[in-house]
Formats: sequence, C-alpha cells, structure tokens
Amino acid sequence: MTQTIGIDIGGTGIKAAIVDVVSGELIGEKIKVGTPAGAIPGDVARVCLDLVEQLDPDGSLAVGVCFPAVIIDEVAFSASNVDQSWIGLNVGDLLEATLGRRVHVVNDADAAGFAEYKFGAARDVQGLVLVTTLGTGIGSALIYNGVLVPNSELGHMTLPGRRGRTAEQLAANVVRIRKRLSWKRWAAHLQVFYGTLEALFSPDLFVVGGGVSKEYEQFLPLLSLRTPIVPAQHFNNAGILGAAALAPFTK
Ligand code: BGC
Repeated sequence: MTQTIGIDIGGTGIKAAIVDVVSGELIGEKIKVGTPAGAIPGDVARVCLDLVEQLDPDGSLAVGVCFPAVIIDEVAFSASNVDQSWIGLNVGDLLEATLGRRVHVVNDADAAGFAEYKFGAARDVQGLVLVTTLGTGIGSALIYNGVLVPNSELGHMTLPGRRGRTAEQLAANVVRIRKRLSWKRWAAHLQVFYGTLEALFSPDLFVVGGGVSKEYEQFLPLLSLRTPIVPAQHFNNAGILGAAALAPFTK
C-alpha cells in the first residue's frame, strides 16, 4: 500500500484526502471544512480527527499534514492566520495524540511546492525550482535537484522601492481582492517580487501556485523575466498531495 492521508490546514479551511503517494492521485473524495473560529490548536486537532475518521474509518493510514508556519522537527516557529498559541507547539505530537496515528508535519508552501515537483508543473525539473503560493499569505518552496530546502519564507522579503513593505503585504492574492487592484497594478508588485527573486536566486523555473494561479492568463503574461514562469497544476490540492508525499511512511 502506498496510501497516506494528506491534510492541508489553513486559516480559513482544512482540506483532507487519501493520496496515492506514488502516482500523486487522490483516492476518493477530498473533504473540505471551515477552520474553527480562532484556529486554536485543540479545535483544529479535533477537526482533523473528524476528517481522518471520515476518510479511513476503520483503518490506520498515516497522516501527512501541512500548516502555514515555519516547521522545524514538527514544531511551529510562527503562525500565519492561525492562533499564536501554535508557536512553540509540537504540532506532530499534538496530532498524533489526537488522531492515534503517525503524523508528519511540514510547512504548507513546502508541501505544495514539493507536489508540483513530484507530480505537477515542475515534474523532474533539475536545478533550482522556486515555487510561490499566492493566497492569504505568500508562501515559497525551494527545490534543488529534487531536494526540498525547507522554510524559505520568501513572501516575508521586503521589496525594493516599496517603503519597507513585504511581498506578502503588497502582493498576496487577498490584498489584490481587498484593495480591488487591477491585474496590471497587482502584476507591477509581482514584477518587483519575482524580479528580486530572480536576481537573488537565478532559478531555472518559477511555478506560481495558490487558487489565483487558475487565472494565470490575466497576470503571468504581464511579467517580464528571463526565467520561465508557469502556473501550478494542482492548485488547491497541492498541499494535500505534498504533505502526504513528504511524510516518511506509507502503509
Ligand atoms: C507564512 C508561510 C506560509 C504562507 C502561505 C505565510 O504568511 O509565513 O509559512 O507558507 O503564508 O500560507
């Protein structure tokens, strides 16, 4: 068996599905529920239990989780759009105790980026692949010759000429929506972000993920970069797929 449950915990929703970690396909339905108000650890863990019991009622499939925070050895070192009490918590231990199954935890953008390398837009690309997720925040994943360099957090980089504001503050998709930015105005911020990343990292490929990447035709053609830049293929499933694929156990 090569199946693992993938769970993608976010500030607004929690998604889960069983993943075939060899083919990168979801087995059966994906379940999505709203994140409990406040996103405090105990409540989120109980939702995860409920999802796991729905997906695999009598089984004992292991679980790969992704979470919007710096994660080192399963411990959260930050907390984006979730309660601050996650900071310092061993997320893996909490979820193993609640779910009664083996659990492995990684950063959400790292999971999504790894999924694009394994099963999507950057499949088997050698050299440096830089994946960004444009959503409520901006997440990033660096994958060099297939090896993930975790917790890069490039969305928190201050952008040159933007008065100390970070890429996430200027160019997250929620900012575009909240400020009703035109695609052109938004793309001007993205140009500075990707142009800076290009100057610093000289990647071989950029992959743009997050729900808005479905609308890539509206903004990717407006960017001028020497590095190829392509939309993600797995959109909202990338976190689930990558969380499951990065978990170092299969049943
Ligand atoms: C967080 C990252 C996360 C990204 C996307 C950022 O605010 O710092 O850890 O990957 O949002 O959720």
